[in-house]
Amino acid sequence: MHPAPPHPPFDASIHDNRRRELMRCMRGGIAIIPTAPHRPRNGDVQFPFRPDSDFYYLTHFPEPEAVAVLAPGREEGEFLLFCRERDAEREIWDGRRQGPDGAREHYRADQSFPIGELDARLPELMEDRAKVFVNMGRYADFDRKLIRWLGEVRAQRRSGAHAPEEFVDLGHTLHEMRVIKKPDEQKLMRKAAAVSAAAHRRAMRVCAPGMNECEVQAELECEFGRAGGAPAYPSIVAGGGNACILHYTDNNHALAGGDLLLIDAGAEIDCYAADITRTFPVNGKFSGEQRAVYEAVLAAQRAAVDAVRPDRALGDYHAAACETLTDALIDLGLLRGERGELLERGAYRRFYMHRTGHWLGMDVHDVGDYKIDGKWRLLEPGMVVTVEPGLYIGAAEDIDAKWHGIGVRIEDDILVTRNGNENLSEGAPKEISEIESLMAEGAVGARR
Ligand code: GLY
Ligand code: MN
Ligand code: MN
Repeated sequence: MHPAPPHPPFDASIHDNRRRELMRCMRGGIAIIPTAPHRPRNGDVQFPFRPDSDFYYLTHFPEPEAVAVLAPGREEGEFLLFCRERDAEREIWDGRRQGPDGAREHYRADQSFPIGELDARLPELMEDRAKVFVNMGRYADFDRKLIRWLGEVRAQRRSGAHAPEEFVDLGHTLHEMRVIKKPDEQKLMRKAAAVSAAAHRRAMRVCAPGMNECEVQAELECEFGRAGGAPAYPSIVAGGGNACILHYTDNNHALAGGDLLLIDAGAEIDCYAADITRTFPVNGKFSGEQRAVYEAVLAAQRAAVDAVRPDRALGDYHAAACETLTDALIDLGLLRGERGELLERGAYRRFYMHRTGHWLGMDVHDVGDYKIDGKWRLLEPGMVVTVEPGLYIGAAEDIDAKWHGIGVRIEDDILVTRNGNENLSEGAPKEISEIESLMAEGAVGARR
């Protein structure tokens, strides 16, 4: 049986280059990288399989039950892939498999073996390698296997085998590669963001009083699916006061005409995530109070996006958002006191309790250090961050009832470029006038 070519096709030279770059940093070492395990949902049903990001970054191999081994300088081959064997019977039930032949032919493994040979081959591969690069602590079952293999190498010491001296965190090296997105990755992230922006536009067009949050969620996620994607994280579709619950995912309340709707949802395309939040009025028209809070968050978001540029420190854009929000909260009468003192004690935290963003990439909260030697690192071209300030005004006795239950967040995905930045998610409207006119079009469409 000849393995079917990968579908959709991909450029395997990209992953060759990544493996080579990693191996250059691994002198005397070996890297062992399993893909993610299956995760049971119940009985004999599993959650949809999603590869481990580090494994997929280095191999593009989409199947479960696979382990990549990188052994720089090894004569018989440096890139080994262990994977499921072809099995005509199982493939009728569960789908096509590449098998070891496909791993070599389509994924450029120098050598490939059935996954069942892992235990027999790994101790020997670890012999005489001073360092083993692994993601220790990520998959408990795999950690136990590593320790067993180490024990087996040690047991061979009297026959002259040298057991590894160090287990090294693979992420330390690999995640520094992943934090800078190369042009092929930028392209995928642009696509994930464009698909997600289209989904947010669709939500704005269809939204109407009386709909349930879950109906809007279905419309959004339909756009993801049509593009071959899936939600990159559980979508938040939060009407009215639900927007003040930061990780609200019940998505099962009816939408009321006078309320805002906050949607935080992004698609994952070929394992790259978008992460976009938009907030808009269920009935298509912002009230005075909603408009005031929204404009405050939008001003903070713009100030923060401006601070995302090369050579600015990663912490700067959060500071920019906090300053703008503090000014606005004073203007709205929601904070009282002297600006400097309010900022110093973080008084805004009552209404803005999270940070302004995070790395974005294969994982929605992507890998990479935020600080180096205790200091916020400098931004560099190719880095991608989210910029997502918000204000959340829960009901409280000391706050005028007109503000109660207003929760607003605006989140874009920003790529640092040589001269500044590129907003990957600009296709999702965020100006009040744009939102109101798109929603008015939607309402006309619905009446037709
Ligand atoms: N959607 C997750 C986040 O915004 O961080
Ligand atoms: Mn988000
Ligand atoms: Mn986010």
